[in-house]
Amino acid sequence: MNNFTYFNPTKAHFGKGQIATLKEEIAANSRVLLTYGGGSIKHNGVYDQVIDALSECTVVEFGGIEPNPHYETLIKAVEIAKQQDIDVILAVGGGSVIDGSKFIAAAACYEGDYWDIITTGGGCVTRAFPLGCVLTLPATGSEMNRNSVVTRAATQDKLSFGSDLVRPAFSILDPETTYSLPPRQIANGVVDSFVHIMEQYMTYPVNAKVSDRFAESLLLNLLEDGPEALTKAEDYDVRANLMWTATMALNGTLKNGVPTDWATHAIGHELTALYGLDHAQTLAIVMPALWRYKKAQKKHKLLQYAERVLNITAGTDDEKVAQAIKKTEDFFIQMGNPVTLAAYNLSADAIPAVKEKLIEHRHLAIGEHQDITPQDAAEILTLAL
Ligand code: NZQ
Ligand code: ZN
Repeated sequence: MNNFTYFNPTKAHFGKGQIATLKEEIAANSRVLLTYGGGSIKHNGVYDQVIDALSECTVVEFGGIEPNPHYETLIKAVEIAKQQDIDVILAVGGGSVIDGSKFIAAAACYEGDYWDIITTGGGCVTRAFPLGCVLTLPATGSEMNRNSVVTRAATQDKLSFGSDLVRPAFSILDPETTYSLPPRQIANGVVDSFVHIMEQYMTYPVNAKVSDRFAESLLLNLLEDGPEALTKAEDYDVRANLMWTATMALNGTLKNGVPTDWATHAIGHELTALYGLDHAQTLAIVMPALWRYKKAQKKHKLLQYAERVLNITAGTDDEKVAQAIKKTEDFFIQMGNPVTLAAYNLSADAIPAVKEKLIEHRHLAIGEHQDITPQDAAEILTLAL
């Protein structure tokens, strides 16, 4: 097991009716910047619950944060945060609203060019507004981590930064808020969390039993409850288990003591920025192809996954690996996320631009062995045509 430092100061309020705890988390008379997306919270009762809980505060609203939050949109909120003498930012929505709000929290305290926050990977962040979240889409883990992914639409750059200063002070996770999710977003959430677990699991063994067995249990939850969420409209237990699984998948717990990959995410972000696919749609395409490309290096963990999670016990090692990759693809397809570029009308012509963007973003040697070059990424995508 590798060395690690574990730090997670975010307080989680989980369960039905927990939006009311906003009253305890945000002091009366505070000035709150309430950030949200395209309006789903106004149709599913979440907005009303939030406004009710904040009845003793002054609320300044900033709506319209789009999926894959745009830098161009977020900097408008930064000006509002500065002018309105805000005490706290409350993000209400999915990963995009939370990530966008992390950027706003940091940029509103930053004196230079706001884009520096991205180019330094968060290194220039020395102060940030306090942030709280009400999560409505289990997927990214952003509600309990230090990361944020921002897109500059003008230049098709989708890049991330991280800082302990933008970790949410608290997050509210009420599974009932997810009842209004359309199937496409349920699928995206399940596939995204699945791939987050895999980015921290499907590498090479270092005898880190806690992280490995924890990852395997979370994968089993997704395999079991992901399809259930698509067919059962308002099953509280299914939604509750998915919500906490997605949070645990990327709140810093699984990476303790293990090598991590993250190449699927790096390649996927370029596909989103260039061609507009949803985040998890890109992951379902890239990850199985990457596994095929790197199956020799990942063989031990692929076999461990095959046996412990998928219960594949018959056949040679190569057959087990092939079955494990195929079953993973079948799961993504069952959830509604196809595993080929062709499913999104993209051909081999789409690949060179991805390679160029990876070079521009200095993603020159990614993966757990830092041996996936932009040319390798192009070859991986060729396996996913
Ligand atoms: O904007 P509204 O109207 O709220 O609608 C959203 C949006 O259209 C809708 N939605 C959210 N909750 C809903 C709902 N619709 C009905 N009922 C609800 N309860 O879902 C759509 C997608 O929302 P979005 O926030 O974009 O989805 P997600 O949570 O998947 O976030 C994706 C973003 O997070 C980044 C991705 O790259 C992408 O930009 N990621 C962030 C990470 C992190 N911070 O650690 C890690 C991830 O790997 C990921 O990269
Ligand atoms: Zn992701």
